[in-house]
Amino acid sequence: MPDGPNRPAEGRSQKVKRLFREFEKTHKTAMDADKRVLVDQILHELTAHAFIEETIFYPSVRAEVPDTAEHVLESVEEHHVVAWLCSELKTLDPGEETFDAKVTVLIENVEHHVEAEENEWFPQVRKALGRKRLTELGEQMQAASRPRQHPAFSERLSPTAAAVKAETWARPAPSRPAVRAPGGAASAVRFV
Ligand SMILES: [Fe+2]
Repeated sequence: MPDGPNRPAEGRSQKVKRLFREFEKTHKTAMDADKRVLVDQILHELTAHAFIEETIFYPSVRAEVPDTAEHVLESVEEHHVVAWLCSELKTLDPGEETFDAKVTVLIENVEHHVEAEENEWFPQVRKALGRKRLTELGEQMQAASRPRQHPAFSERLSPTAAAVKAETWARPAPSRPAVRAPGGAASAVRFV
């Protein structure tokens, strides 16, 4: 699950990891209200992240590095599983006995997804695209991550939105105006 090849996006991945660890440390003793706030943050970050990947990164990679098509398809399916868990957690009361188990499985799924991408095909993507193209993609992803540039949580996770996404993501990414990232071009490619 890439967050993009630029530093601000990398910041989001670090935030997700921090939130995961916070849940693991506190879930047995936390008040339900505090747990709700923490898990809502996790759901928000994962939703924004998945939307950006599926609308910008995956379509571009699939078009420009065709050998990765199989990996991209698997990643989209992994997102689908994560999105389903997120949709259930959004309305599940933290006091329910299944809540913590569901969050734990969500974390396990995301970490498996990240590890598979990082180990199995992102190195190939970095090599094939090169620094300049990666920087462009990173700028697009950063622009899309700004508030109100991704769909509302409920919209993103509805079955209808998922169906629309499945139809849309396979097309090449639309060309977008280049947006300069604060801090300039990426100096390193780092995915979640
Ligand atoms: Fe991903």
